[in-house]
Amino acid sequence: MSTQNAAARPARTATPRRYLMCPPRHFDVTYSINPWMEPGKPVDAGLAMAQWDRLRNLYVGLGHRVELIDPIPGLPDMVFAANGATVVDGRVLAARFRHAERAAEGPAYAAWFRDRGHPVHVGEFVNEGEGDLIVTGDRILAGHGFRTDPRAHAEAEAALGLPVVPLRLVDPRFYHLDTALAVLDHEEIMYYPAAFDARSRAVLAELYPDAITATDADAEVFGLNAVCDGRHVLLPEQAVHLIDRLWERGFVPIGVDLAELLKSGGSAKCCTLEIRPPRPAGVRRHA
Ligand code: ARG
Repeated sequence: MSTQNAAARPARTATPRRYLMCPPRHFDVTYSINPWMEPGKPVDAGLAMAQWDRLRNLYVGLGHRVELIDPIPGLPDMVFAANGATVVDGRVLAARFRHAERAAEGPAYAAWFRDRGHPVHVGEFVNEGEGDLIVTGDRILAGHGFRTDPRAHAEAEAALGLPVVPLRLVDPRFYHLDTALAVLDHEEIMYYPAAFDARSRAVLAELYPDAITATDADAEVFGLNAVCDGRHVLLPEQAVHLIDRLWERGFVPIGVDLAELLKSGGSAKCCTLEIRPPRPAGVRRHA
């Protein structure tokens, strides 16, 4: 830090967020739908819960509101709340999962929102929530290639009222957009270029010329699976290069260890669904 010029770094301001999380009470790896999942490999359920609890406590300590949805037995991936829906302006686009093993999670998350008075839109095509639909200040970056059907992008645009930018994922290890790209602040992002096809890389370079790009090592420890409140960035602690870049940009990175959840191919962002409240009249942009 001593060699860095603090004055050159922009000041970063956190804004209070509302998150939905699902305790990993029934977490396990019993099937394989991505290259990280090895059903024979033991999972320490107690450790998974402790790691998840630390993430939740960090959010609460930073002043964010964390709501919980009850986990359902037989749905071991339900802990990955980010896949449950996408919420913009209080409006909810329910998830529709690609694999039968996770199909029942969509209606469970939709019911949670309906019970709390949110308008819920159920689309026709597969979309795995914020796993593939990443909301920035002014648009939705929308992944496809492995899970979300590109035809769901138009549904997201109509249901959530923001323009969609399609991005094609090409590396099966980074099967959801939130494993390869994270929003930091309004129109600032960090991403792993090799996870995208050439056209999508060109789109990202044009839209975000100042983005932080991740190294192979950062991406492989799920460093892009990060949650930012405008100032603090919660991300896997092993993503040491990204952590340095974030400090340089004036963010406050907070390393977390979610190694048990990584056995299912998920980390901090996957466990966190952001509930973006209705915007006051006249405010167009999301934090
Ligand atoms: N095992 C889960 C799956 O393959 C992990 C989901 C991770 N979630 C995420 N938002 N990337 O669907």
